[in-house]
Amino acid sequence: MNVKKETSFPLTQFDFIKDIARFGLENDQEKLKDSLQEMIEHARKTKKTNLAIQLQSILKEAIRFHQAGSLSKTSSGIRFETPTSKGVEDLILDQVTSDYRLSDLICNPQIKESLDHFILEHRKKSLLEALELPVAHKILFYGPSGCGKTLASYVIAGELEKMLLVVNLGAIVSSKLGETSKNLARIFKMAASGDCILFLDEFDSLGKVRDYSQDHGEMKRVVNTILQLFDYLPQSTIVIAATNQVGMLDDALVRRFDTQIGFELPGEKEIEELIGLTLKRGVFTLGSKSGIKKLIQKAKGLSFYSIQKTLITAMKRSLYQLKTDLIPAKVEIDKAIWEKLIEDERSALLNSGKA
Ligand SMILES: Nc1ncnc2c1ncn2[C@@H]1O[C@H](COP(=O)(O)OP(=O)(O)OP(=O)(O)O)[C@@H](O)[C@H]1O
Ligand SMILES: [Mg+2]
Repeated sequence: MNVKKETSFPLTQFDFIKDIARFGLENDQEKLKDSLQEMIEHARKTKKTNLAIQLQSILKEAIRFHQAGSLSKTSSGIRFETPTSKGVEDLILDQVTSDYRLSDLICNPQIKESLDHFILEHRKKSLLEALELPVAHKILFYGPSGCGKTLASYVIAGELEKMLLVVNLGAIVSSKLGETSKNLARIFKMAASGDCILFLDEFDSLGKVRDYSQDHGEMKRVVNTILQLFDYLPQSTIVIAATNQVGMLDDALVRRFDTQIGFELPGEKEIEELIGLTLKRGVFTLGSKSGIKKLIQKAKGLSFYSIQKTLITAMKRSLYQLKTDLIPAKVEIDKAIWEKLIEDERSALLNSGKA
């Protein structure tokens, strides 16, 4: 639920910009913020979601910056997403819209099918509801780091054109243990009222409450809170939880998800697709097929992220080797550079005990 303002709005974005310029130059902070807030609401109403979000984050930053000073009076007049959001902003990492599409994510056919079905449920939500059929709206992503869990969340938000509310669950759980349940409740309320997708990254943090605290009662309370929040969440609110330590989660919690998707390290086919996706952007080539096959073998065992990162570094270094500032028509990637980077990445992982 966005806060409705019953005052009349100037009609165009142009009017807001004029006001903002005037109040900015006159250094009238109060009026400046009021105009900015009105412009945000106008942008929202006219479906310029991106503009609304960006302006809102500028405003939020400014308020945070000045909070200790004289602006407390002014800030009481400023409304964010919902009236319940006070105090929750610090727990939200980001509120974003996304341009990612399914074609940006490389995955096996099973994952693709599960994501397709999940997205379709929401495209067909009205039909399902009319027939009193439940809509799957809670999805759990698990699997190793750098294999697409966060990316898949952005893909869902992009495909459904919904805003993604990225929650810093780690911060919520570790900051003030006693407040965890209350904070979770606030965030769920905020997501439900704003018709957003709630993205609970580091979902295993909930399991870690066990470690932080000798107080098992608190752990139980947190898990119970989240179970209840899940049960009463409107089915138009999508919750995506991501973890790379699914074993840390309470079974009752895992069972609550309508869909669970396990992401995996890329196999040969996926690595080949990732190379294609990464090179697609430009003029870079990798030369002979047999050489590429050898590198794919070397890259096996690394995450999508590590492979893409090393490839992009190799692309850049190969470009520098050309010693020109002119945009080249073609750059052949130096495979030896990429191979070395892959090897370095692998030994770094081995040393850190992650491989
Ligand atoms: N399946 C994939 N398809 C295409 N690109 C990918 C894939 N997985 C990862 N990447 C690339 O690696 C980056 C990081 O991936 P992402 O953040 O989704 O990993 P993650 O599984 O959420 O990792 P973590 O558990 O560390 O949060 C992506 O932004 C993308 O560039
Ligand atoms: Mg992630």
